[in-house]
Amino acid sequence: MDLGIKGETALVVGASEGIGYESAKALLEEGVDLIICSRNAEKLKQAAVKLEQAVGRPVRWFAADVTKATDVTALQLWLEQQTIKLDILVSAVGGSQRALFGELDDAAWYANYEFNVMGTVRVIRATLDLLKKSGSGRIVILGAAGPRMPYPQQLVSNVHKAGLIAMVKTLGAEFQPFNIRVNSVSPGRTMTSLWTNRIDKLAKERGVPPAVIVDEFAHEIPLGRFGQPEEIAPMVAFLASHKTSYVTCQSILVDGGIARGLV
Ligand SMILES: NC(=O)c1ccc[n+]([C@@H]2O[C@H](COP(=O)([O-])OP(=O)(O)OC[C@H]3O[C@@H](n4cnc5c(N)ncnc54)[C@H](OP(=O)(O)O)[C@@H]3O)[C@@H](O)[C@H]2O)c1
Repeated sequence: MDLGIKGETALVVGASEGIGYESAKALLEEGVDLIICSRNAEKLKQAAVKLEQAVGRPVRWFAADVTKATDVTALQLWLEQQTIKLDILVSAVGGSQRALFGELDDAAWYANYEFNVMGTVRVIRATLDLLKKSGSGRIVILGAAGPRMPYPQQLVSNVHKAGLIAMVKTLGAEFQPFNIRVNSVSPGRTMTSLWTNRIDKLAKERGVPPAVIVDEFAHEIPLGRFGQPEEIAPMVAFLASHKTSYVTCQSILVDGGIARGLV
């Protein structure tokens, strides 16, 4: 399907690997003028080169840690020199810390809040003027299936991703006067470094092969397997396109069926 976004400008934050990388690739393949951002400059540069080689089109990049306000201000200033408008913003930074309530002190709660909520808040703030100039801006935020079916031992991200989804629903209405749509894609268990690291750690702790851990987690998913980042990216691109012109304030699950609530 031609998503009708050729020639538009898109920024993907958290794009050096995983779901952000695949989302950036999906948008680049649709012909957008792509800018990518994440924390580690060397890794990001390599991702830009890989994308350019895969799709045969140029990619601009800027390294920023979204948990640092000064980095995001630098990103904003750089963006304003690079482009007169932004049509698409994808925020793919976030993650969970496996812990029980008693293991989480204030510092752990605040660090996760910075990572999962404030990073996205800052990036939206930094790009809002450019998105307004688009005349039809679209924001797509990576949420999680967790808030629909809170996972055990993922208390902080269950709470903070729920807040992020509430933000999507609030901003979709608040930004309507600027014709900016705001949506979220909420993945289920998706095999990125977030999970490979977790699986390796659990396998070592329990002295079992990683495949045993994978099977245990996959067993709870109706489709019987983890998702791949390239299975999440098409939904991100779809929501970032004009094909979803009547969709805003939504959080769309792409989760292999794991969150099965009726509402
Ligand atoms: N994978 C899953 O199962 C799953 C499930 C539900 C929701 N999600 C959500 O989907 C999104 C993407 O997850 P993922 O699994 O693709 O993650 P990932 O593979 O860990 O990739 C995260 C990306 O974000 C960047 N990043 C991390 N911290 C950053 C920071 N402080 N500032 C700027 N960039 C930063 C990383 O680059 P650097 O290494 O350079 O920092 C990397 O490019 C997240 O919001 C996550 O919560 C994922």
